Amino acid sequence: MATATVAATAPLSNGFLLRRGPNEGAKSARSLQRTKNQRQSASSRRFGAAVITAKFDLKPPPYPLNALEPHMSANTLSFHWGKHHRAYVDNLNKQIVGTELEAKSLEDIVIQTYNDGDLLPPFNNAAQIWNHDFFWESMKPGGGGKPSGELLKLIERDFGSFEKLCEELRAAAATQFGSGWAWLAFNPRPSDGKELLVVKSPNAVNPLVLGYIPLLTIDVWEHAYYLDYQNRRPDYISIFMEKLVSWDAVSAKLEVAKAQAA
Ligand SMILES: [Fe+2]
Repeated sequence: MATATVAATAPLSNGFLLRRGPNEGAKSARSLQRTKNQRQSASSRRFGAAVITAKFDLKPPPYPLNALEPHMSANTLSFHWGKHHRAYVDNLNKQIVGTELEAKSLEDIVIQTYNDGDLLPPFNNAAQIWNHDFFWESMKPGGGGKPSGELLKLIERDFGSFEKLCEELRAAAATQFGSGWAWLAFNPRPSDGKELLVVKSPNAVNPLVLGYIPLLTIDVWEHAYYLDYQNRRPDYISIFMEKLVSWDAVSAKLEVAKAQAA
């Protein structure tokens, strides 16, 4: 079950608890995730006399910006996606110009620049692009409800019940101190047979760098909810779980994760 599957923890310089176990390692995540496509547009824009290569594009959410209303407003999406997410893309594109990272996929940049917890400068922007792309996909208009099929079966096996998973996810999202993320992730090589776990991470860190495959995320940075819920993070988390989460998307990602792990 969730955090209980972790054999030991080691605090890192950035305050994140790296869960060390027999299945740790960025290399495994890299090999498991390598097949996923990342946007590498190679489009160019001209600023004055200089040509800047825009390697990564700002990917829009898979629904209109007002599609999650009234639970997440178009105003929130226009700032969160249109300003914050856009800034991560713009900043990473500037940071990687002329470096070896220009030739790499977004996932490879995330894993390489995590550098065993000693974060290199492009890490935060690269990981935040990846995390936000993933977050938009974790929601849908008319979301909520309950998963079914293989996903529900695994949840009941690894957490005891769907309600218990929801409890753990809510607790992880509510107790992440400051900015960060709560995740449901797939462990491709569990030591105890339980493949699903809940992880919380600070700032831009995500489960990829720990060797896990993310299935679902909740953004708990204040910019995700402050315009709609001000400081009431628990209300935002409840709405996410009851009205926004896309269990269809989680099921699809589980299928891909299991295929990658096979
Ligand atoms: Fe965010």
